[in-house]
Amino acid sequence: MKVLIINGSPRKDGNSAALIKEAVGVFDKEGVGYEIFEIGGKAIRGCEACGWCAKHGECVFHDGVNELAARLEECDGMIVVSPVYYGSANGSVVSLLDRLFYSSRCDKRMKVGAAFAVARRGGTTAAFDELNKYFTISQMPVASGRYWNNGFGRAKGEISDDVEGLQNARIVARNMVFLMRSVALGKEKYGLPEKEETVMTSFIK
Ligand SMILES: Cc1cc2nc3c(=O)[nH]c(=O)nc-3n(C[C@H](O)[C@H](O)[C@H](O)COP(=O)(O)O)c2cc1C
Repeated sequence: MKVLIINGSPRKDGNSAALIKEAVGVFDKEGVGYEIFEIGGKAIRGCEACGWCAKHGECVFHDGVNELAARLEECDGMIVVSPVYYGSANGSVVSLLDRLFYSSRCDKRMKVGAAFAVARRGGTTAAFDELNKYFTISQMPVASGRYWNNGFGRAKGEISDDVEGLQNARIVARNMVFLMRSVALGKEKYGLPEKEETVMTSFIK
């Protein structure tokens, strides 16, 4: 059992990293594996809608997204943590997730997702909703906590004073472990839900 964790902060050892530390403490205790992908200072391009991935099954750009797609295929759960920038998830996280979810061809159904937004003061619920949309368009169940997953702090490390935010991170991690184990048992007993051929309509046809 493995969780893929994306830290969307460009800051090393920032508040997002501290929140992740809290969640992985739970995984360590529960014997659940994890891998942390740090966006850091990586130059992650936005999607150019070139259509390459539809033909080749991977993104045309090689800046880490294709490697991440292979990891996504292997994992049972995925956590995305993003700092809030202007009331939204930060631009690099959005670029990465747009391309990862659009280009990767693996079956994401029933991989458990969880998102966290970290901010000084405002915009966490908007960013939280934004991040959850990647999971909920991919038939991924979402592990929730006892608040809309956020953490507060401005300077690096300030989040350590947000004891409620850190507690919530532990709760979400525990709920995620429970869900991943439940999905594993469910898959064994019933298999994944029946798949239908995709139908795509728009408002003009
Ligand atoms: C470009 C930029 C925009 C930001 N916008 C917001 C914002 O809209 N709301 C907020 O509360 N904090 C905002 N912040 C503060 C960060 O969200 C905050 O410092 C957070 O702890 C950073 O997380 P990190 O340490 O993981 O990078 C912004 C910071 C930057 C650099």
